[in-house]
Order: sequence, then C-alpha cells, then structure tokens
Amino acid sequence: MSFTQFFDNYSDNLIVQYSLIFALLVGVFHLTIFLLKFGSLVYDLFIAAPVNFSKYGAGSGKWAVVTGASDGIGKEYALQLAKKGLSIVLVSRTQSKLELIAKEIETAYKVNTKIVAFDASTDDEENYLKLEKAVFDLPVTVLINNVGQSHSIPVPFLETEKKELQDIITINNIATLKITQIIAPRIVSTVNNANNQKNTRGLILTMGSFGGLLPTPYLATYSGSKAFLQSWSAALAGELAADNVDVELVISYLVTSAMSKIKRSSSTIPNPKQFVSSTLKGIGRRNGAQERYATSTPYWTHALMHFGIDSTVGVYSKFANKLNLQMHQSIRQRALKKAARLAAEKKD
Ligand SMILES: NC(=O)c1ccc[n+]([C@@H]2O[C@H](COP(=O)([O-])OP(=O)(O)OC[C@H]3O[C@@H](n4cnc5c(N)ncnc54)[C@H](OP(=O)(O)O)[C@@H]3O)[C@@H](O)[C@H]2O)c1
Repeated sequence: MSFTQFFDNYSDNLIVQYSLIFALLVGVFHLTIFLLKFGSLVYDLFIAAPVNFSKYGAGSGKWAVVTGASDGIGKEYALQLAKKGLSIVLVSRTQSKLELIAKEIETAYKVNTKIVAFDASTDDEENYLKLEKAVFDLPVTVLINNVGQSHSIPVPFLETEKKELQDIITINNIATLKITQIIAPRIVSTVNNANNQKNTRGLILTMGSFGGLLPTPYLATYSGSKAFLQSWSAALAGELAADNVDVELVISYLVTSAMSKIKRSSSTIPNPKQFVSSTLKGIGRRNGAQERYATSTPYWTHALMHFGIDSTVGVYSKFANKLNLQMHQSIRQRALKKAARLAAEKKD
C-alpha cells in the first residue's frame, strides 16, 4: 500500500492524525536545532571578531606556560602568545631547541621567557619539581597543554610495543594532568588576586585530536588518550568556571609537523601558524564542535568536517569506524613499504 492509499484509507483515524502531527513536530524540532547549530558554526568561523588577549593578561606582565614548545604547534603557540604580549615559560624535552626559541621570542617581542627542559615520558617527580620551581612566583594566566605523542606509524593494538603504549599514556595523560595540577593553582591565584583590577581571566587550552573525536582503529592507544583528555578537560571547565578560568579542549585534524610527518599544507591540512592563529582567534567559541561544552574545532575545514560527521553518520558510528580503519590500514601499508625501501637503500 502506498503512502497516498494509506492516507486515503486512514486520514479520518484520530491516532493516525496525532501520529502525523507528532512526526511533523519532531521533524520541525530537529530541523530548527540543526539550523541554529549551523548558524552558530558560520558565525563562529566567519563573522565573530577575534578574541582580544588583554582579557587573559596580554600586555600587562602576565605569563603563559606552553608544553611541547620547541616544535610544531607548541612552538607556534609560544610565538603567537608572545607576539600578543605574554611572557612565556617554554617546556619540552630539548634544552638547546628551547634556548633558540627563547632568544627568538625575546628579540622579536620584548617579553620575558623561562625554559624548563624534561622528558615527560619518564614521569619523574624531579620534572615536576623543576616546573614548580620555575613558576612559583610568576603571575601565570595561561596554560597550553600541547605536548603529545602518537604511534610512530598506525599499528594494530595487539602489536603495539609496550614502550610506545606506555609513553603515549604517560606523556598525553599523566604529564598533562600533573602539569595542570602545578599550573592551574597559579592561574587561579593570579586571576583571583585582589590586585587583579582589570578582571583578567585565566585560560587552559589542551590539544585534542580527530583521533580522539572518532575512535580510530590502528591508533587505538593515541585515540583513547585524546578521548580521555576530552572528558577530563570538559569536567575541569565545569570546576574552574567559578574561578574565572576558561578551560577548552582544542580539536584538530591533520596539521603539518614532525608528528604528522606531513610537510606540504593544503586546504584541509594547515601549517602550525595557520592552525594556532585560528585557535587563538576563536577562544570561547565552539566552531566545529557545536555539540560539545568547552570544546572547539577551530580551523575552518576541520570545523566543517567535524560538523558534517556529527550531523550525519555520527562520530561513534560503525560506518565512521570502518572508514577510519580502512584509511589507517592503508597508511600502515604505505609506511611499511617506505620503511622497507629505505632499509634496502641503506644496505646498497
Ligand atoms: N600535527 C597534527 O597533525 C596533530 C593533529 C591533531 C592533534 N595534534 C596534537 O597537537 C600536539 C602537538 O603536536 P605537533 O604535531 O606539533 O607535534 P611535534 O611537532 O612532534 O612537536 C612535539 C613537541 O612536544 C615535545 N615533546 C615530544 N615528546 C616529549 C617528551 N617525551 N617530553 C617532553 N616534550 C616532548 C617536543 O619536544 P622536543 O622537540 O624537544 O622533542 C616538541 O616540542 C600534540 O598533542 C598532538 O597530539 C597534532
């Protein structure tokens, strides 16, 4: 029976009439929600004015702590925050790289810098004492939890080396939590100090990833570590809101860097400068992460991808999981072939 025949036969039936009206209202409700979210996405990405960082103490002697600051996205956070007028505590593994960046920042932007070098994968108490000592008397207002490690190449979970698994969780999760427990109290005390007449706010940004947004086969440990940061960061946002500290998880698809092993940028793969600029411009707005509290997917093509997936198949669907599996199996095959080729070249 076609819909028209069905309607002709039962159109005077009250249950059918109420069911149709209910279905129509549900449809209108969902369409309205979708249009509101889409409008908000367009506003966030293309219309809203850039955030003024004097709100977070730029230009008034305040400090930002940036982890993973010697390369890629973290280095760019350090440079762009210094350009806005924040002094910077640079944290990463390699002292010599940090010294070069500190010099570059001090010369170009006339702000102060401090360096704290340690290997976050060791989870050594000494590391955290060093950091605590460096910041104990600084008026810190911003923390960028950027340090992170992924798998060297996509790998089935059951074949993941124990050290890689341990390092990913230690660096991405344990170190991020312990560093935040040291820096967040400094931020809270700076912004809630009686001398804070400008009502400066605090800011804690943590780097998430599409790897955590979508469960990602063959990057299972990295994927889980970034999903952990999503829940932890949003929970912390709720806790610190009353202390005038904004907490936000920043979601990114690929960016050119040593970690992604991608050198050439494109419309969907920005370089760190483009990525960080879009992030800092849009603090406090959800951009592509319209369905999530205290979360932003700031780069415009990443934002459209996030919004598109969320509004169609959904990030936790079997379909998205299968596509992701196929993509990472193919990346693994290519990486293994390249490694074999390089090994053969070395032998010759
Ligand atoms: N690039 C992407 O496509 C992408 C996509 C989504 C999310 N992300 C996230 O963005 C963040 C930055 O990634 P990136 O691509 O900029 O990485 P990157 O270019 O590889 O830089 C990583 C930074 O972290 C530091 N670091 C690495 N291991 C460390 C350790 N064990 N102890 C202390 N410092 C360590 C490095 O210091 P040294 O130079 O001294 O080793 C470097 O400064 C990560 O959290 C990543 O998950 C990246």
